[in-house]
Amino acid sequence: MLRLDNAYGVSPISPSPPGLNERGITMLSTRFTKEFGVKHPITCGGMTRVGKAELIAAVANTGALGFLTALTQPTPEDLVKEIARCRTMTDQKFGVNLTILPTIKPVPYDEYRQAVIESGIKVVETAGNNPAPHLPAFKAAGVKVIHKCVTVRHALKAEALGVDAVSIDGLECAGHPGEDDVGGLILFAAAADKIKIPLIASGGIADARGLVAALALGCDGVNMGTRFMATVEAPIHVNVKRAIVANDERATNLILRTLHNTARVAKNAISDRVVEIERAGGAKFEDVKDLVAGTRGAVVLDEGDLDYGIWSAGQTQGLIHDIPTCADLMKQMIGEAQKIIASRLAGMIAA
Ligand SMILES: Cc1cc2nc3c(=O)[nH]c(=O)nc-3n(C[C@H](O)[C@H](O)[C@H](O)COP(=O)(O)O)c2cc1C
Repeated sequence: MLRLDNAYGVSPISPSPPGLNERGITMLSTRFTKEFGVKHPITCGGMTRVGKAELIAAVANTGALGFLTALTQPTPEDLVKEIARCRTMTDQKFGVNLTILPTIKPVPYDEYRQAVIESGIKVVETAGNNPAPHLPAFKAAGVKVIHKCVTVRHALKAEALGVDAVSIDGLECAGHPGEDDVGGLILFAAAADKIKIPLIASGGIADARGLVAALALGCDGVNMGTRFMATVEAPIHVNVKRAIVANDERATNLILRTLHNTARVAKNAISDRVVEIERAGGAKFEDVKDLVAGTRGAVVLDEGDLDYGIWSAGQTQGLIHDIPTCADLMKQMIGEAQKIIASRLAGMIAA
């Protein structure tokens, strides 16, 4: 599953030093990097209002795989324009996230899907619901699908439906961890025991240690959200990035639990209030609707008013101590992962 370029397979006539590619970039090669034609076994998952061209192009330029978030664009036509804008910033591969969630206003999912296909995108991250209705069209257009889910049973179902990879979110993740409450340490290994297609560990990963751990548990790559928010290129207010750095691993709330739509978000005055209302018992969506409105969350991300609304962030806040460029983040993660595998772990066997 995991192959370190400096451990195997580097041809004796290879001009590149071990573990480096021809451009001197450190590399880790897995089934995921090979089957998806990317350099690093790292993806930047779809992020509402964050997964825009600036960030996704920067991720693509490092050789990792980022996903523009389709529904952040108000219409399918706007998505077409955003894909084109992203292409002005990178010539590397990037994908689109299609989040299929129940919404108050109906979403023209089929038109978003067509926009993706007609724009020539070749990899999609689906999430939120069964991807089945979209698979025939994606398959016919040669688009690879990574389905992101939160349980082993849903991962197995997606595999049976014919997706190309699954990404599985543990309880630590930002966004929607589901209701089973299984942490990544168990979930990734449990999924690896059953899933045959490439498997991506998601949630709770922010550095090389998390990457190596996920690979050791049997995964072929990792997906990160919160870590990519605190990068130079993330198109959000710097106050949010600084808050992520300042926060520790306890700075999240699980909201909407009682409404069976659990979301892990940053702890702040608004998410504390939502939890309080839910704890009082018998809460209906109407009771929290205004507090959790996306328009309020947008003010946080755009204007940096941290207590104005709900914003997603995960427990990895406790592992994030800087705001690097995506290029520096990838260099650091891959380089450090190589050192952990080749020195720290290998040294344990040698000793
Ligand atoms: C601000 C933010 C917005 C997100 N929005 C979405 C979304 O629209 N669709 C989706 O599939 N996942 C969304 N996610 C989840 C991420 O794609 C990813 O699965 C998650 O962040 C992984 O956990 P981590 O934050 O611990 O790395 C979002 C995450 C964040 C931080």
